[in-house]
Amino acid sequence: MKTQVLKPTDEALRLAADLLRAGQLVAFPTETVYGLGANALDSAAVPGIFASKGRPADNPLIVHIHDRKQLDGLCRTNDNALKLMEAFWPGPLTLIMPRKPAVPDAVTAGLETVAVRMPSHPVAAQLLKACDLPIAAPSANRSGKPSPTTAKHVFDDMDGRIPLILDGGSCDVGLESTVVDMSGDVPCILRPGGVTKAMLEAVIGDVTVAGSVLRPLRPDETALSPGMRYKHYAPTGQVTLVEGDEDDVVAALALLHQQAVQSGQTPCVMCFTEHAAALRDCHPHDIGSRDNPAEVAHRLFDTLRRLDDEGMDAIFSEVMPPEGVGLAVMNRLGRAAGFRSVQARDVLRAEATAP
Ligand code: TXA
Ligand code: MG
Repeated sequence: MKTQVLKPTDEALRLAADLLRAGQLVAFPTETVYGLGANALDSAAVPGIFASKGRPADNPLIVHIHDRKQLDGLCRTNDNALKLMEAFWPGPLTLIMPRKPAVPDAVTAGLETVAVRMPSHPVAAQLLKACDLPIAAPSANRSGKPSPTTAKHVFDDMDGRIPLILDGGSCDVGLESTVVDMSGDVPCILRPGGVTKAMLEAVIGDVTVAGSVLRPLRPDETALSPGMRYKHYAPTGQVTLVEGDEDDVVAALALLHQQAVQSGQTPCVMCFTEHAAALRDCHPHDIGSRDNPAEVAHRLFDTLRRLDDEGMDAIFSEVMPPEGVGLAVMNRLGRAAGFRSVQARDVLRAEATAP
């Protein structure tokens, strides 16, 4: 199959809407990451998403809408869900609500709930309006790879697998939407994103955060969000997070880089703008200012993909406090590292006492 990449002209949007109505797949930009869409109510079209991504069938999809009237056919809402929609839709917030029977099992992976979001990106909004269908869309990457934040990322993963990619430039937020389960007594953040815990709590009061957001799922634990079970966002090289006081971290990053070079690896560091000059001999990837988590979120997936393009096999990364958008950054970075981390102090001490 030939994959077309088109700017989102009226003509391209019409073609995209026609393809979706005909049961085909279209990749499109959203404010978070690029999505890979199919008609959510077409149970023959949805399996194509899983096949082209190589996605496990038990990982459910998010349904994208442009008008709250579409909710009637999809799910049951409640007061808190309606308040959050009022406050944050259209925008990077996905709500999990009890499903209605019209939603195919392939979309929900057989769960009794369905995830719904209304994206704010103008191209996504225009496409959803043009086809006037609820569109099931996961991130448009091959399963396991970092989510795509440019049309080129999508093309790198999906060339030959889908007929059309709408190119709307680079995505603003850069990390996937905040996913909140609204189906229980207390709303629970399953995946942190651009809409933070504090922002949600300002509207509806107490919200909990799923335990597995900042650590791996325990073998005895059932995943609240099936996507949490899978290895995600990971570059091919091993990522190690380096924690501790600022000066120690910079010194430890330099030392770890040097040790990796000596052992014949091709290493690099992922560091904040503030430390890029001090680490200039360590192949630094500047992930943004440590005072600007939104900037780090925006750059993270592009950086992770570049590490693969450059053939890096050992990657040492700074960390940020898991607060606000920093929680979303650390959730993705933790998964990219397989939760492997070291204390900068220990690294420096081991070197000082080495024979
Ligand atoms: O920003 C985003 O959310 C992007 C854009 C394209 O909208 N989409 C996205 O979809 O990130 P995906 O499929 O990569 O991630 C959806 C996440 C998965 O972790 C999945 O397990 C979870 O949402 N999810 C979907 N439906 C669910 C449900 N009914 N219950 C619990 N988790 C669910
Ligand atoms: Mg994804």
